[in-house]
Amino acid sequence: MSTNDGRPTVGVAGGSGYTGLELLRILARHDGVRVAFATARGDAGCESPVVGLAFADLGPDRVADVDLAFLCLPHGAALPWVQAARDAGVRVVDLTADHRPGSGREAGAVYGMTELTEAHLPDAGLVANPGCYPTGVILALAPLQAAGVIDDARPVVIQAASGVTGAGRSPRRDLLFAEVVGDFRPYALGNGHRHLLEMRAMLPDLQLLFTPHLLPVARGIVETIALPVRGGVDAAEVRATWRERYASSPCVRVDDDGEVPRLARVAGTDEVHLAVFDNEALEAPTLTLVAALDNLGKGAAGQAVQNMNLMLGFDAGRALRCGQR
Ligand SMILES: NC(=O)c1ccc[n+]([C@@H]2O[C@H](COP(=O)([O-])OP(=O)(O)OC[C@H]3O[C@@H](n4cnc5c(N)ncnc54)[C@H](OP(=O)(O)O)[C@@H]3O)[C@@H](O)[C@H]2O)c1
Repeated sequence: MSTNDGRPTVGVAGGSGYTGLELLRILARHDGVRVAFATARGDAGCESPVVGLAFADLGPDRVADVDLAFLCLPHGAALPWVQAARDAGVRVVDLTADHRPGSGREAGAVYGMTELTEAHLPDAGLVANPGCYPTGVILALAPLQAAGVIDDARPVVIQAASGVTGAGRSPRRDLLFAEVVGDFRPYALGNGHRHLLEMRAMLPDLQLLFTPHLLPVARGIVETIALPVRGGVDAAEVRATWRERYASSPCVRVDDDGEVPRLARVAGTDEVHLAVFDNEALEAPTLTLVAALDNLGKGAAGQAVQNMNLMLGFDAGRALRCGQR
């Protein structure tokens, strides 16, 4: 419950995983809230990134101790926490896919793609924080679909690459250092990645062909999108559409003409960078879009705090690493 000084309290379930640790690092800098607990089973008793707060092995009943809970748990493991929070009237930002669009359990949840659903966040009880890959794809494409510039008779081809923290912190043989270093491999071939559920639900009527790749770096995502557009639509029009749509967002940067988004510029930030390029020598007009973001930042913990900020009445960018050059 709220602290003596009136600050709301928050708890983090799954605080010792990659998204939980990143979230705690951001919350440690946020002077508008106090972190009351961070759960972990294996690391119970170890120091968390919040000074003076150790991880504790706590169950869902403890959600009643706080005003808002973040769930940084594996898919499925968050469900008892969501139920306990509902019973106690506690607000939740759920980082799992359990209540995202396309999950079949999205009823009653607000999708936390902050820039697209911000009007619903101040009253939201349960926020489904987006997936990392869908964040770049949906922020790039949703305003363009709304503006009617996409030729939806042709597929949108998305080539994406993510650093290995995207797979979580549990040990896996195929993610050992010796398996990933010097390597670069596609996975989920056949257009079956689970993030497509969320992308298709938010971008209805678009044919999406999505191929993720594993990049041998710790963090960051770059998505390169071949976008079929209607005749006469060029990069300048797309850039202007994004700039108008995201004019008030501290966390979306639309790059200038010729600027190329880079992993190194977004890693460790809570921003997504969008860029668009014209293409020569194609019969059917097709633009190249690039979205770059940190999977743990705007792709997870950063966006979770952005959502919390609007749920609790703070400025959207408070404590976030946005707009710094
Ligand atoms: N990694 C990303 O880039 C990213 C981006 C967007 C969204 N997400 C989503 O965010 C969630 C967390 O991802 P992550 O990468 O942070 O995972 P992770 O690194 O594997 O961390 C999972 C956390 O949950 C705890 N945990 C695991 N099983 C549990 C259980 N059954 N009950 C209670 N606690 C449990 C783990 O610690 P103990 O096992 O020691 O308890 C750890 O603290 C996932 O649903 C993921 O899909 C991840």
